[in-house]
Amino acid sequence: MDPLTQLGGWGISRRAVLQGMAATWAAVTGGFTLNGRYQTAWAREQATSSPSETQPATLRVLGIGGSLRAGSYNRGLLRAAQELTPAPHTLEIADLSALPLYNPDVEAQGFPPAVAGLRTAAAIADALLFATPEYYRSIPGALKNAIDWLGRPPNSPLARKPYAVLGATTADLGTVRAQLQLREILLSFDLPVVQRPEVFISNADGKFDEQGSLLDPASRQAVQDLVAALLVLTEQLQQSWPPARA
Ligand SMILES: Cc1cc2nc3c(=O)[nH]c(=O)nc-3n(C[C@H](O)[C@H](O)[C@H](O)COP(=O)(O)O)c2cc1C
Repeated sequence: MDPLTQLGGWGISRRAVLQGMAATWAAVTGGFTLNGRYQTAWAREQATSSPSETQPATLRVLGIGGSLRAGSYNRGLLRAAQELTPAPHTLEIADLSALPLYNPDVEAQGFPPAVAGLRTAAAIADALLFATPEYYRSIPGALKNAIDWLGRPPNSPLARKPYAVLGATTADLGTVRAQLQLREILLSFDLPVVQRPEVFISNADGKFDEQGSLLDPASRQAVQDLVAALLVLTEQLQQSWPPARA
């Protein structure tokens, strides 16, 4: 399958991919090293503008949901975040359903297409938004598996990628334990994280409609506030982090 068509299956538009590839080429020809960071909005603007011409960046967020369930509340949270992402910023939602289980022997043969698609989607994103269910006091295996693939060298697309976390459960504790574990796992990559607000959606079955849309006003406000905080953190970091030189 055409890799860009494959990415469409991940919810990533061809346009976004082509923009990322163009930015990649611009950065490479500018002498920047391929380290998973140079495709950021900061690098895109630096490749085309002088500092005095730089406008506020248009940021791309990749939403990664930990549930493979068709009616997932956590996917519903990501759709709400997508709706509540202020223009011109965008939020695309990844699909983990085609990822194979991480296996070093498989990796040694090269990243499978679904993995390569996810890694590209993460590489061209400026920030990540994880929506995790809680499975037995931790994150689902599907999400851990995605992180296992994303974290692998060379050029892990997680490198210095700011992220935020939220989660929904039908139980009372709102994924508190899963989110703590996810943050601990992501310590492996030394990533900047949004600390507040914390968004724990409990009793989710009463907060979404039958189509999986988030209805509860307080929850929607919390999602909106989290997305805003992630965008602010990302903008701040991109202004203070020059891309690495070869
Ligand atoms: C295997 C399994 C384990 C679960 N363990 C927990 C748990 O430890 N804590 C919790 O709050 N909810 C737990 N739940 C409930 C899920 O959080 C709930 O089903 C949630 O809706 C799943 O997310 P989703 O709607 O995005 O698929 C568990 C569900 C499953 C299927």
